[in-house]
Amino acid sequence: MPGPRKVTVAEVGPRDGWQIEPEFIPTETKIQLIDELVDAGIRVIEFSSFVSPKAVPQLADAAEVLAGVDRTRGAKFAALVPNAKGAERAAAAGVDEMRVFVSASESHNRKNVNRSVEESLEGFADVMRIAGEAGIPVEGAIATSFGCPFEGAVPVTRVGEIARRFYDLGMQGVGLGDTTGMATPTLVAERCRYLRQHVPELPIALHFHNTRGIGLVNVMTGLAEGIDIYESSFAGLGGCPFAAGATGNICTEDLVYMLHELGIETGIDLERLCAAALHMEEVIGRTLPGQVMKAGPRLQLHPIDEVETAVG
Ligand code: COA
Ligand code: ZN
Repeated sequence: MPGPRKVTVAEVGPRDGWQIEPEFIPTETKIQLIDELVDAGIRVIEFSSFVSPKAVPQLADAAEVLAGVDRTRGAKFAALVPNAKGAERAAAAGVDEMRVFVSASESHNRKNVNRSVEESLEGFADVMRIAGEAGIPVEGAIATSFGCPFEGAVPVTRVGEIARRFYDLGMQGVGLGDTTGMATPTLVAERCRYLRQHVPELPIALHFHNTRGIGLVNVMTGLAEGIDIYESSFAGLGGCPFAAGATGNICTEDLVYMLHELGIETGIDLERLCAAALHMEEVIGRTLPGQVMKAGPRLQLHPIDEVETAVG
């Protein structure tokens, strides 16, 4: 298959997943699960957000989590920041990368960060200054890039304009967020081509949710377009608390399984990743959407006596 031979799988479960869980996951447990992901070979991890603890109490311990995880393995620890206050907290905690976020649609941006798209973009200048002084790179994420649960279709030109603003502000990459799983292969191809043409300087990351069951199909389209960075959540956790109908991200184990079967390198040990996902499920105490964590890889054999012979 044409496309990248090597892909970066960026784990976002500790942020996109834990932010929507009704129960606060104890800091020690978060640290242990993140260490397991890094042990499995994850090298880019969105470990938390420096947002208002009133808006997202589940991630109020971002600095403590970062202070506790093993940072000797070469993994890059990224966090979401919405404003200057978040950037100051993230810089003080010592993140490797900041990620600002804004929605392509006004109504989701208001729900998510209580301001207009323009106000968010203007506020990023302060984030860039604080990050620049601390020597920390910044990437930008565009939520509702493929459609908005409140407004419907989102024009590709809107996504392009915001990406151009990111580039002009000095950001080093753009992530297209599919907040409520509205992406389709047609939209993915259109948006990747448009950005390549209009903002060719910015590397693109794709962030899909599996809300409508075609998350990995969208990845296949991204691969055909040459995109080599994908964001996913272990065990298939995930969702935005401020979007109607948000459900899990594409699942990291399922994505890694598919990439490996396509002969694409990720540097990730699937077995260890599945062990981390099963641990996550145990911590949450309910069945999570990941499929390879339950079925195992394709060639994992089962003892023949495990299954009864059909008689009669
Ligand atoms: N970290 C910690 N506290 C913060 C903060 C930050 N990054 N930004 C603001 N606050 C605090 C302020 O200090 C203030 O505290 P006070 O009431 O004790 O004085 C309070 O939050 C309100 O501040 P304000 O600037 O008026 O913010 P707001 O109420 O308009 O909310 C956001 C704006 C962006 C802070 C809030 O909507 C938010 O954190 N959203 C994040 C949403 C999110 O994470 N979504 C999921 C990811 S897609
Ligand atoms: Zn998401």
